[in-house]
Amino acid sequence: MPTPALPAGTTTSFLTKNGTLVRIRPIEPGDMQREQDFIKNLSPETRYRRFLSTVKTIPLEQLERFTHLDYDRNMAFIALVKENGIDKEIGVCRYAALSNHPHTCEFAIVIADAWQGQGLGYQLMQQLIPVARNHGFKTMIGEFLADNLPMLNFVTSLGFVLSPHPDDPCLRQGTLQLDTPT
Ligand SMILES: CC(C)(COP(=O)(O)OP(=O)(O)OC[C@H]1O[C@@H](n2cnc3c(N)ncnc32)[C@H](O)[C@@H]1OP(=O)(O)O)[C@@H](O)C(=O)NCCC(=O)NCCS
Repeated sequence: MPTPALPAGTTTSFLTKNGTLVRIRPIEPGDMQREQDFIKNLSPETRYRRFLSTVKTIPLEQLERFTHLDYDRNMAFIALVKENGIDKEIGVCRYAALSNHPHTCEFAIVIADAWQGQGLGYQLMQQLIPVARNHGFKTMIGEFLADNLPMLNFVTSLGFVLSPHPDDPCLRQGTLQLDTPT
């Protein structure tokens, strides 16, 4: 399958609260190793909050799914800083269409520990949400640990409505309507 063209106008830069220049762009197939290194270097707590498991690295097949996207039903943005002239990943957010609900996508986000609280998660979501809306999704959902207060506060401030998870009392579900004006 040919690699889909990168969506236009989806690369941006911003300054973190501590003044570091960060570039945000769609993830690409060439980011596989970068993504694996990023996940491996997360703290165990951050990794658990993101993946709801104690995995340290992710299997090749999942890594491929994370980096080879159609930029339509599946989308991801990564945040990069220059370190010794090399682009280092410091955050990623993504959505994937639900197979049983074609107008709903599920999102996930994780920021490197040292970069949390710098406005990066907010900037990544400002990229991701309009793309989902423009691709016809009506609802974005996410699942978070019930004790993950930073995440619960974060998504609430973005307009998500929290509810109990239908299957697991340890989780909360967040829902953002995309088809209502913001
Ligand atoms: C939760 C998480 C994604 C937040 O990302 P972050 O980069 O640390 O958060 P930010 O600095 O962008 O965001 C929070 C700030 O943006 C602010 N913000 C949120 N919405 C905003 C808005 N509409 N306008 C302005 N600011 C806003 C928040 O109020 C907060 O401000 P504060 O720092 O002054 O309190 C991050 O901590 C993380 O990676 N956690 C571990 C992984 C995880 O839990 N993932 C969830 C499962 S998918």
